[in-house]
Amino acid sequence: MAQKEKDALSGVETTGHEWDGLRELNNPLPKWWLYIFYVCIAWSLVYYVLYPAWPLGKSYTKGLLGYSQREELVQKVAEGKKAQEKYLTAIAATSVEDIQKNKDLLAFAMAGGRSYFNENCAACHGAGGQGAKGFPTLADDVWLWGGTTADIYKTIQHGIRADDADTRGTVGIGMTAFGKDGILNREQIGQVAEYVLSLNKRSTDAAAAAKGKTVYDENCAACHGDSAQGSVAAGLDVGAPPLVTANWLYGGDKASLVETITNGRAGVMPAWSKRLDDATVKSLAVYVHNLGGGK
Ligand code: HEC
Ligand code: HEC
Repeated sequence: MAQKEKDALSGVETTGHEWDGLRELNNPLPKWWLYIFYVCIAWSLVYYVLYPAWPLGKSYTKGLLGYSQREELVQKVAEGKKAQEKYLTAIAATSVEDIQKNKDLLAFAMAGGRSYFNENCAACHGAGGQGAKGFPTLADDVWLWGGTTADIYKTIQHGIRADDADTRGTVGIGMTAFGKDGILNREQIGQVAEYVLSLNKRSTDAAAAAKGKTVYDENCAACHGDSAQGSVAAGLDVGAPPLVTANWLYGGDKASLVETITNGRAGVMPAWSKRLDDATVKSLAVYVHNLGGGK
């Protein structure tokens, strides 16, 4: 241990530590630093007394103020629930049309509807309802079962060809399997597919398309309408899509058309009224209606 001595250059006492001839000066701590240090110690003592601080096995010192973040959270959540409750009760008691007319309820239903949609519907209909093959786009104005808020509400409540007494359509029955059931032969199916293509100005065989029109009038118009405008536009309730829009549920190329006409289609949409409460279903109906294509 080296001797404490005065450093010759600065005149400051050294600490007595020495490393390879280097010695440490024993300068006092800066005053400002020291005072902040004392204030911190004093503050920590005050804090220990007032706030929860020391662990005591399974418990802890509670502090004189009795502050608890956990209780604060519970209280905030309860307050939030109460505020929501007011809106949810109002939504449950209001018709879907009237929700659309009430600015506050509409804003609340839209916010809720968006999150319920992402949770329950986006898996099939895509985020924002953009749709996928077999799952209709909900953001456009082509509707299989009607695009008014009331129509959409009913569709969501009871589903389509679903296990529900009031479901839309009939379980297992959709587009007839004209080929598989032997109603039309392959030639006729090719012709009517060509006719559907001609409605969309994509036919490459005018003679077949002309014959296909007769096949259409005899077999298809009853569900899809005289001008293939779809069952909603034709005032029918069978869920047959228009065949004159570019927006296809199963595909509008010739191979997809032949496939649909040969084997039929019967999409199933689950009924939601048993799984979600009424305020949730109404919020979803309002949300879907406002995705862009509502009537
Ligand atoms: C399991 C997949 C699936 C889920 C989940 C699903 N849907 Fe559907 N939905 C379908 C199918 C399939 C159709 C089309 C049925 C048909 O071919 O007529 C459909 C049709 C619809 C229609 C009718 C569209 C029209 O053109 O008339 C609406 C509205 C709708 N769904 C809303 C919803 C909402 C809201 C949810 C969430 C609560 C939801 N769907 C969840 C499969 C699903
Ligand atoms: C009994 C009523 C009914 C008849 C008759 C019928 N369809 Fe359909 N069609 C439907 C329904 C319902 C759908 C939708 C199926 C679904 O949503 O899963 C459909 C769907 C289609 C589609 C798919 C459209 C798309 O967007 O992908 C085509 C194409 C089609 N039908 C063509 C025809 C042609 C051609 C005929 C006559 C040979 C015909 N349909 C006769 C009820 C019918």
